[in-house]
Amino acid sequence: MTTPIERIAALTVGTVEYVSPDQIKVLLELDAPQATALNTGVPIGFPRINSYVLIPNEAGAVVALVAWLGVEPSSFPKRTGLKDFGLIDLPYPLRKMSLVPLGTLSHAKAKGKQQVRYRLERGVAVFPSVGDPVLLPTSDQLRSIVESEGADRRVTIGISPLASNATVSVDPDKIFGRHLAVLGNTGSGKSCTVAGLIRWSLKAAEGERAAAGLVGPANARFIILDPNGEYTRTFSDLSPSVRVFQVPPVVAECQELSLPAWMWNSNEWSSFAAAAPGAQRPILLQALRDLRAGAAIREPVVAQVSRLFRSYRARLAQLIAQGASGYANFPANRNCGAIIRNIETDASRYETATDAGLKKALGELAGEAKTRANSHAWNSATNSGYNDFSETDVLAVVNRIDVVLAELPAGTKSVPPNEDAPVQFDVSQMADHLEQLAGDVGGGNVAQFVATLAMRVRMMLADRRLGPIVMPAHSIAFEKWLEDYVGVNSATTGQIAILDLSLVPADVIHVVIAVVARIVFEATQRYRKLNTVELPTVLVLEEAHTFVRRSGEEEQATISPAQMCRQTFERIAREGRKFGLGLVLSSQRPSELSATVLAQCNTFILHRIVNDRDQELVSRLVPDNLGGLLRELPSLPARQAILLGWATAVPVLVEIAELPTEHRPHSADPKFWDVWTSVESRPVDWKTIAEDWTS
Ligand SMILES: Nc1ncnc2c1ncn2[C@@H]1O[C@H](COP(=O)(O)OP(=O)(O)OP(=O)(O)O)[C@@H](O)[C@H]1O
Ligand SMILES: [Mg+2]
Repeated sequence: MTTPIERIAALTVGTVEYVSPDQIKVLLELDAPQATALNTGVPIGFPRINSYVLIPNEAGAVVALVAWLGVEPSSFPKRTGLKDFGLIDLPYPLRKMSLVPLGTLSHAKAKGKQQVRYRLERGVAVFPSVGDPVLLPTSDQLRSIVESEGADRRVTIGISPLASNATVSVDPDKIFGRHLAVLGNTGSGKSCTVAGLIRWSLKAAEGERAAAGLVGPANARFIILDPNGEYTRTFSDLSPSVRVFQVPPVVAECQELSLPAWMWNSNEWSSFAAAAPGAQRPILLQALRDLRAGAAIREPVVAQVSRLFRSYRARLAQLIAQGASGYANFPANRNCGAIIRNIETDASRYETATDAGLKKALGELAGEAKTRANSHAWNSATNSGYNDFSETDVLAVVNRIDVVLAELPAGTKSVPPNEDAPVQFDVSQMADHLEQLAGDVGGGNVAQFVATLAMRVRMMLADRRLGPIVMPAHSIAFEKWLEDYVGVNSATTGQIAILDLSLVPADVIHVVIAVVARIVFEATQRYRKLNTVELPTVLVLEEAHTFVRRSGEEEQATISPAQMCRQTFERIAREGRKFGLGLVLSSQRPSELSATVLAQCNTFILHRIVNDRDQELVSRLVPDNLGGLLRELPSLPARQAILLGWATAVPVLVEIAELPTEHRPHSADPKFWDVWTSVESRPVDWKTIAEDWTS
């Protein structure tokens, strides 16, 4: 049996030579281990970069990370025995190492247990002094450094090879609550880590529920935006089953991806249509307002009449205010005629559906509008149009509208139509309606824009892949959509929704991702508004660098879909936490990611990163003194990663637990050799592919 003092002596590997707040230099003992330390109970590698050492003090011990190792020649050896300074020595190599202080390990006696436990706290309260001994941690101490305590121990994600294979666990509240970024080169294991994290979290939650005697699945919500279609089969063994949405035609067990265009808000429409803010955006917004208001079934007829004719009246009043240039000379006469014609159509449309007084007034309005329009209309073999109107004509129609408005029951208020509300409307009417509005407003560049926009909308609806997504064959109610994509009460239909976006055409994938992310965000926002508590939801975005791209310098008038997508995610990154919406971003190119989004991520799992721009960027994410830790990034083997940030007290090197093949995202490295040598067969039939492509 050794005494505590002897034990400490046996573990001492060196003495402190230099101390600054971010660096400690140590002179290693001559007899300190050269490669493997056997004196800690279990063999651990020492000295090794990124392994831990302790420097005891009155508060416990400072935990430090080995950042640099080297040999420095000295004019005489560090003598242990007789010191005879009369001797002249040859230069003598001394081993040194440089440490980065990480935190403080203190004693914490576990309740009811004899065994001494240690607890790691962030920050260093008392810095060591020159001459202090540096110790190797025992395996118990190592465990306490890496293994977290209490609530932090909820989900195990792997082991720490540098800390005698202690398990590394995380707390979902911390890792998902404040956004997580998983970064690394292609093939470094990001998708596997994300898939594992979700799977292990659900498993752990289920275990805890079972222990508490609860039945039913974990009440969790994960939404995976998967641009490469990697995750389709990853969770298929979980019950209740996951919901996978695919671009039609779908394979078995998947549902059709639908994102009706009536859910898009005005921003999303504008960026899809590349509408310039000047003349084009207002028309688009007007079209959305009209279609949404027309579709709002709850709006009573009188309210619809009130809204419609008040807006017509306002437009005519505008024309009168402009004087002759409002209704005479081309194209003003043509536009004025078109408005009067629309008034006629709408007045006779509502004539059938209202009470006697209103019916009469509408009838007279329709009659007046018809007479005025007809008396100025001209027709030739090739064209048609209107001659100049006069103020009298316009005033006559305005007066009739006033009669109609006077007939409405007192206090009739139209529901102000909102161009952003996800009110269902018939998307196929969009193009026609835009053209009609263009007729009303007139103006060369407007007509041209509307023609382009109407064509884009028509093409989108006709597109074999996109059409069914933006205008599903079976109309889907908004609440059903939320149940499908965010999850039902108690998550009884599954906790994971996977949106396989692999076949969404490239020019709209940004819009699709932005819309889904925004709706999920607003849904959690509204949930908290009505329930006062938040609904924990996790939104996973793969290939984040493509969708949340760092903003360029150029300022454009129109918002491109990529810009809009970035703005949506920046907003979620900034505000999502308050509503329980956590982001998990996976990216190969952190240097191309939006700085705002990255700055809001509080936890990082860093896999191998070779590119120096990316390395430089991630090194800026950690405090200066820890930069050295990340120098290991280019040489990390697969499955190993550095976990750092909010979810862990000190940065740890984790070997992520192994996922069996069937639970991995479908992204195995291509097998060139096996195919070349016919170990695996790959029949090629371009005909079927060409047909599928072109049909
Ligand atoms: N935890 C793990 N368990 C088992 N295998 C893993 C694990 N992590 C990585 N791998 C192996 O590494 C391969 C690549 O991993 P993964 O697809 O996760 O990389 P990635 O970083 O997402 O790449 P990309 O950026 O190209 O999407 C996997 O096919 C798998 O063989
Ligand atoms: Mg991947």
